[in-house]
Amino acid sequence: MNLKQMVGEKAAEYVKEGMVVGLGTGSTAYYMVEAVGKMVKEGLTITGVTTSNRTAEQAKALGIPLKSVDEVDHIDITIDGSDEISSDFQGIKGGGGALLFEKIVATYSDKVIWIVDESKMVEELGAFPLPVEVMEYGSLQLFRLFEKKGYKPAFRLNEEGQKYETDGGHLLIDLHLNEIKKPFELAEFLDGLTGVVEHGLFLDCVNTIIVGYTDGPKIIEAR
Ligand code: A5P
Repeated sequence: MNLKQMVGEKAAEYVKEGMVVGLGTGSTAYYMVEAVGKMVKEGLTITGVTTSNRTAEQAKALGIPLKSVDEVDHIDITIDGSDEISSDFQGIKGGGGALLFEKIVATYSDKVIWIVDESKMVEELGAFPLPVEVMEYGSLQLFRLFEKKGYKPAFRLNEEGQKYETDGGHLLIDLHLNEIKKPFELAEFLDGLTGVVEHGLFLDCVNTIIVGYTDGPKIIEAR
């Protein structure tokens, strides 16, 4: 059974007539967008706000009407994937490189739903490399700083082996931390660094998590 498809389709059930819907990015969110596209074809009227160029292309091809985050006065619900979710429902996102737009859209959403397969549920964050989106100018200085701190940084590369460029035109540095004991302290540190545009710690962000298990989806209310 495809667990990503299962949770993607389950999450689409939360999308109702007239809603403004944040459409996430990644291989799990893909299935949710497909399901929402099908509902739109069957007559549902919604407005989508996408979190990446990739999702925008998919949504357009499915005929989902779109607006930018600046054209809507609120977002009713955002459905997105996640790379890790800890036992206290904090998350790491950005494996797909879309963390900046994802965090902006989530920030202006009344409700955030994350859809994951069971492998993403962890005790503590950090096994997944933490993406940090940085301005290119000064990025080597930040890289060296992260090295000194023992964060084992690596520039994200694209398929051609060049530095990966985000939809916002920035670079990504992945931090190989192995464990994040104090996510709020780390987030505060990263937020305070000049040249850091955003990072993949999504703290106190999610309301509902839909986890895919082989025997069916489990819905967890986080807050
Ligand atoms: C995109 O930047 C990410 O935040 C994704 O939502 C996250 O990486 C989960 O992706 P998958 O659903 O492909 O695992």
